[in-house]
Amino acid sequence: MYDNINLDNIDLSIAPPAEEPARQYYFMAKCREVIRDIRQEMGRDLTACTQTFGCQMNARDSEKLSGILKSVGFIETDSEEADFVIYNTCTVRDNANQRVFGRLGVLNGYKKKNPWMKVALCGCMMQEDLVIRKLRKSYGFVDLVFGTHNLYKFAELLYRCYTEKGMLVDIWEDTDKIVEDLPVERKYPFKSGVNIMFGCNNFCSYCIVPYVRGRERSRAPEEILREIRNLAADGVKEVMLLGQNVNSYGKEPKNTGFMSFPELLQEVEKIDGIERIRFMTSHPKDLSDELIQVMKASKKICRHLHLPLQSGSTRILEKMNRRYTKESYLALAEKIRREIPDISLTTDIIVGFPGETGEDAEETIDVIRKVQFDNAFTFVYSKRTGTPAAAMEQVPEQEVRENFDKVLACVQETARERVKRFEGRILPVLVEEVNEQDASLMTGRLSNNTVVHFPGDASLIGQIVDVRLERCEGFYYIGTRVLQ
Ligand code: 5AD
Ligand code: SF4
Repeated sequence: MYDNINLDNIDLSIAPPAEEPARQYYFMAKCREVIRDIRQEMGRDLTACTQTFGCQMNARDSEKLSGILKSVGFIETDSEEADFVIYNTCTVRDNANQRVFGRLGVLNGYKKKNPWMKVALCGCMMQEDLVIRKLRKSYGFVDLVFGTHNLYKFAELLYRCYTEKGMLVDIWEDTDKIVEDLPVERKYPFKSGVNIMFGCNNFCSYCIVPYVRGRERSRAPEEILREIRNLAADGVKEVMLLGQNVNSYGKEPKNTGFMSFPELLQEVEKIDGIERIRFMTSHPKDLSDELIQVMKASKKICRHLHLPLQSGSTRILEKMNRRYTKESYLALAEKIRREIPDISLTTDIIVGFPGETGEDAEETIDVIRKVQFDNAFTFVYSKRTGTPAAAMEQVPEQEVRENFDKVLACVQETARERVKRFEGRILPVLVEEVNEQDASLMTGRLSNNTVVHFPGDASLIGQIVDVRLERCEGFYYIGTRVLQ
């Protein structure tokens, strides 16, 4: 475990070791020296800012980046006027890319004022050739660029970034390497994401993820369980098992003999100290009866399933290469509800996929009405270069807007009704933080992931407390704590 490593004891007079993670420990110790020297010259501590775009996987990766930065001597800050700024990027939709390029302009301004400043970029967006070409051509002030497959090498890259001149670009096409035991700086002490698999093999026709994250590969169950046991020992109560498609956990790489996802969940359930188990994301085509039964029998698996629908039109689903139909999705949702009646279902929806008509959007609205999602993340289709859908005939913007507004209105109306069903009940809430708007309130989540605000103080953070859900305000509750 990383906690047992003393960087001061590493012999830096010899060449770096070839094996991991020893090699990264060596470079962390090297970085420490470099940062110490700069600190002496500057006469103050060095600050680092990690900005995360995108999904839970990126949020987890950013905790790994922060862990390394802290262990080599940086002081973490939220301000981008820092000595080291790293953007962990997302490229699922083009507007995320545009935001990164826009904000890079601002960073360049800061850099001109601070000659010590370094700018680094990593994550999914960096796995795209077009992005790298653009950075090389017009963003020469960026110091370090790396992708999603070599994140574990961050200490080594950081060292090179401080000791070499020019833009350092280190992008790998693909790798099976999963390096364990590197430092992690968790955002919340009481909950943590845990990667159980990387990549995706589904190739939905609109999606860039399989191209940038590579082929599906699962982590060994014993490594996952070891990590969760360590997290529990460190005070973590809630884990979120992360993967693009957790229902196919254990299938790739082939012939490893890994257990299935429901079996893995049952093993996680046995770990003392872990009180809540979540997972993300489930593909409807792979969701098994075994998983539903394991969820039903479990005391720890949260009453929440995120089940991306994308479209309610079978015709569009086929063009999206989703491999289920409107009817099979509805049947699956009904089966889940029948077995686990109190469960919350949430979803992702794309509006404006090539060829989508008003009638197709109506089919989506029909599914929203029938399933009654607790929440639905609704996205305007974004054309991603290199995906099959990019070559299909696109829908005019005006038509997309109209359909989007209709779908969104339906989501809001049905979710408002659905979320309300627990009004008046007393339910356990894991307290996460002080409310951002009103410091007299605490903010936490129900097992089904619904947000609850209630009067309390910061000493409750990390505890699971009973709260009476007094009033539903659309997507969240206002409650009062109940002492029993
Ligand atoms: N355009 C819009 N939304 C997309 N998503 C994935 N690719 C695209 C795209 N090209 C959405 C899907 C997915 C979520 C993570 O992002 O709904 O479930
Ligand atoms: Fe993208 Fe489809 Fe894979 Fe999800 S399952 S990451 S939408 S290709």
